[in-house]
Amino acid sequence: MKTVLFNRAAQGRALVDRVALLGRHSDSPHHYTRTFLTPAHRAAASQIGDWMREAGMAVRVDAIGNVIGRYEGGSRTLLMGSHFDSVRNGGKYDGVLGILVPIACVAELHARGERLPVSIEIAAFSDEEGARFQTGFLSSRALIGRSDPAVLERKDADGIAFTEAMRGAGLDPARIGEAKIDPATLAAYVEVHIEQGPVLLAEGLPLGIVTVIAGSSRHLVTVTGEAGHAGTVPMPVRHDALAAAAEMVLALERRCGAGGSLVGTVGMLKVRDGTGNVIPGEVEFTCDIRAGDDELRRAADRDVVAAFEDIASRRGVKLALSRPNEMLAVPCSPRLQDALERSVASVGVRPRRLPSGAGHDAMMLAEVTEVGMLFVRCGAGGVSHNPAETVSAEDAGIAAEALLHFLRGFTSPA
Ligand code: GLV
Ligand code: MN
Ligand code: MN
Repeated sequence: MKTVLFNRAAQGRALVDRVALLGRHSDSPHHYTRTFLTPAHRAAASQIGDWMREAGMAVRVDAIGNVIGRYEGGSRTLLMGSHFDSVRNGGKYDGVLGILVPIACVAELHARGERLPVSIEIAAFSDEEGARFQTGFLSSRALIGRSDPAVLERKDADGIAFTEAMRGAGLDPARIGEAKIDPATLAAYVEVHIEQGPVLLAEGLPLGIVTVIAGSSRHLVTVTGEAGHAGTVPMPVRHDALAAAAEMVLALERRCGAGGSLVGTVGMLKVRDGTGNVIPGEVEFTCDIRAGDDELRRAADRDVVAAFEDIASRRGVKLALSRPNEMLAVPCSPRLQDALERSVASVGVRPRRLPSGAGHDAMMLAEVTEVGMLFVRCGAGGVSHNPAETVSAEDAGIAAEALLHFLRGFTSPA
């Protein structure tokens, strides 16, 4: 048994090395993209499983491809984790950090022969971003037994069916339900995640404690105008779907710029049969509105939809909105926030509480247990969902030390 004391600097370097190693498993040779059940995704899952075993954990792969490591202790389970899929051309820390930091802590406990009053499980979630099949929180949803059967009908951009991708990875789509865990066994869920924003960086703090995870409203918007000849149709009589959509994008930006935690984004916009000499006849775009306060978000959502309707009627185009996909804001447990705050202070960092604008697997787990989140400072100006996303080795080491303190002090709720 090793008896070395926790070495923050060495842990930090080892963590960023592992992030880099895992980042080599990418669907693209040109940039980092890892989507559900591709060969790169499966190779990453296998690597994560090896690291869990090395840390003294028993490893299983569940019915949706989550890799789950277990370190035995008391009867209830403290679940930690995050996702190992990515957005297209994303950053290597998003998700992965929340798998690797807990593994490093368990490795440390194991090396010292320490067991805790709770068992620890680390879930490496196979699909949170949903880039391949346009899903969202697919695998943490399965863990709490809330899978959406509609995903079984999906196809990826190459026409590969979701069910075929599952079978190709040795998973049976008919058995997704078996990924459900018994919530009664859970003591809590804790997720470590890169902040994905500039707040901690601006304040010179390596760690933060999440207070609330913003809720979201998402729509798919279709604007239908009239295609026509770009050279012959006079401007006043056009029904240009793209010009209408452009006005809608700006209306969204204006309304969601009202302040507070409210934000609004059009991240995808497609001109159907777009051609340089054709007036756009149909445009489809996504609309993503978020806020830490559900009422603030819902009010903005109503106003944005009303603005879209006005623009459509003024321009003589048709507007169709998909049913909004809504997620309510999720508060983190005050008890876990306090405990994380003590752990942050224990490593000499001034505790800073902040909301999360990004969505996380913790939102799903919050339906069945109390959740807490520890943010780690995002370097490079605070960018994320961007290849420049980064965390310093020093900050990764501080995060591991704080989490270890948290684990040692963790007690199950009565
Ligand atoms: C996940 O990254 C999200 O917040 O969309
Ligand atoms: Mn993300
Ligand atoms: Mn993430």
